[in-house]
Parts: sequence; C-alpha cells; structure tokens
Amino acid sequence: MSYEDNARIINDDIFDLVNSCFELEKSTRNNEGRVNFFDTYKNYFVLTDDGSYSINSKEINHKIETLHTSTGAISESFEKFIKPMKFNYEEDIAILDICAGLGYNSSAAIEDFMKNSSKSNLTIDMVEISPATLACGLLVPSPIKAHDITKKAIEEELIKQDYATLSLETCEIPENIDINVYIEDARQTVQKLKDNTYDAIFLDPFSQNMAPELFSLEFFKEFRRVIKDDGIVAMLDTALPKNDEIRIALSDVGIPFRDPNLNNSSDYILDKRTEERHNARHTTKISSAVKTPIFLACEMDDEKLKRRVERNLAKMNIPSTTSDEAFYIVECENSYSKKQDEKNNSRNRILDMEKKLKKVKSGNYDNT
Ligand SMILES: C[S@@+](CC[C@H](N)C(=O)[O-])C[C@H]1O[C@@H](n2cnc3c(N)ncnc32)[C@H](O)[C@@H]1O
Repeated sequence: MSYEDNARIINDDIFDLVNSCFELEKSTRNNEGRVNFFDTYKNYFVLTDDGSYSINSKEINHKIETLHTSTGAISESFEKFIKPMKFNYEEDIAILDICAGLGYNSSAAIEDFMKNSSKSNLTIDMVEISPATLACGLLVPSPIKAHDITKKAIEEELIKQDYATLSLETCEIPENIDINVYIEDARQTVQKLKDNTYDAIFLDPFSQNMAPELFSLEFFKEFRRVIKDDGIVAMLDTALPKNDEIRIALSDVGIPFRDPNLNNSSDYILDKRTEERHNARHTTKISSAVKTPIFLACEMDDEKLKRRVERNLAKMNIPSTTSDEAFYIVECENSYSKKQDEKNNSRNRILDMEKKLKKVKSGNYDNT
C-alpha cells in the first residue's frame, strides 16, 4: 500500500474528479477541464465564513474533517501560523510548511512577507502527501493575491511529476522568494532536510486520531534537528491548563505516539499506543480513568468517585488524595501561572511531576 493510500487524504469523490481532470489534460492537452473545474464541481468545495474554500477529508471511523475551520480557511492561516510567529523581516526567513494542502499557509506567509520586508529573502519548503490536494489548490479561487504565487510553484512541481501537463498559472514568482514543493509523506521529507535550517515550522495535520504519524515523538525529534535554535514550531506563550499538565505528567494520557523508523501505518501507531497506555497503567502511570490524577491534593465530597480515585492511586503507592505523597507530587503546581517563563512553565512542571511520581511508586520518596 502506498503512503498516499495509507495516509489521510481528501474525500474520494473529489479526489477522483481532480485526478480525471488532470488525466484528461494530459491526453488532450486542452485547458478547459482545469479552467471550468471549479464552476462545474462547486458543490464539492466547502465555502468558509471568510469567503475562502476548503475541502473535506476522507471518511475515517465515521468522521470527516474539513481541511480548514469553517470560520475561515485563509483567516485561520493568518491567525494560527503567521501572527504568532512575529517574524523579523529584516532578515532572510526559511519556513517549512508541513501538510501544505491547498497552499493557504504558505500563501499567507508570502503575503505577510511581501507587505513587510524590503531587502530580505523568503524560502518556503512545502510538503504535501497528496498531489490531488495540491491540484485542488490550483482549482479553487485564490483567497489572497499571494496564493497565485503559491499556485505557480505547485503547478511547476505537478508538471515536473507528470501530474499536470499545461502551464496555465501566469503569475511570476518574485526573485527573493524561493518555493520548493515536496509531494510525499512528510516523514520521508524531514529525514532529508539539513540541520538547523528553519525559522519556523508550520505543522497543519488532521487530528491525532486521523494522522497520529504526524504527532510521534520521533517526528518531533526531527523538527528539533531541522529548526534553528531560535526557530518556532508553534507558539505556546500561555501555559497548558493546570489539569492538562497534571494528566499529561502523571497518567497514561501522556504516553506519546511512537514511530521509531518514521514509516509505520496510522493504525499500527494508534494500536501500539493503546497497548503501551494499557501496560503503563498502575505500573509507571496513574490510571487516566475518571481523570484520577487531577484530584491529587484535593478534598473530595463525592464518596463514590473518591473510592474509585483512591483505588487507582493506591496502586501507585499514593494512599489518598490528601496524603503527603499526593501533595509532594503536585507541589510544583502551587507556582502555576498562565504566563510562561524560563523556569516556571508547563514543560518543567510536567517533568517535575513525572520524576516525583516515579519516586513515590518506587518507595524512594523523601519529602524533607
Ligand atoms: C488540515 S489539512 C492542511 C491544510 C493546509 N495547510 C492548507 O493550507 O490548505 C492536512 C493535510 O495534510 C496532508 N497529509 C496527510 N498526511 C500527510 C503526510 N504523512 N505527509 C504530508 N502531508 C500529509 C493531507 O493530504 C491534507 O492536505
């Protein structure tokens, strides 16, 4: 099974129509199919609130996700990926756009760059597994001017790969903008990229249940390698909610997806994590059932719930929700604040709680 069959791609019907359109273009060398595609098949596209178009994903486990939020596909790109980056346009910028889809995130980056930079250069490496999805990017009306530049780069690559035939995009890519389009599984691409290269990585996959392979520990380790020391993957300038920190640190919810050779199928990755979570429960992690860890250091009124919570805690050598051990494990949460700084942040608190749970479980805990 190819990567594309295996990964989560767009709705089968539109996928077939787009493929046929470009096959016809190849056999007839006629541009009509492409030029008329959007008007003919408009119903297959999803109009979002800001006037830009999205498409649906394939149905997986009775779930369909649109590629973008219904409140506005192109607005989402600016809000989620461009604004938080606070790029310094005095200097050259390199962006890795993973899950490039219709090319909206790259286009938003180009638009912002062209508005704000004078002498610097922009490099964008776009990665998308599905040629048909990139081709959809050529078929939708451009939501912003810069999308025409992205379309040109996508078209060039689709022609190189013998998917598209005709060069219909007339926009010139400015000299100070360099766009590379990789049409393959992002896990393959990242392994080919050089260390210490990117100022920003946009990661825009479907949800974890649909694409767990793009959330694995090993995939994120590759990000660490290819991003510059002061680069940004996603800005987390506020702390995680307190209860999320506690559950990630102490319960099996915090077990990551694993994909050691960056080539396992989504189903395998999901199954393996379920197995690992099951094995960790009551041995290295508190059970996530009834959100047990969030009751540490709390008085509980609900007697029935308390019995269930304390049964789970006892298996990890924590006698009750208000025992010394309970307070010891979550004591770093006393300094919780939404604002993150170098010392006081979600990451440090999670690591601290994990370490303390280990000590309590092994009987090595000393709260003096
Ligand atoms: C939420 S959409 C991204 C939307 C996109 N950023 C845009 O501007 O239109 C997720 C995309 O991830 C792609 N995808 C899924 N698995 C992938 C993989 N392993 N590598 C690269 N792309 C993948 C899908 O084909 C889909 O286009």
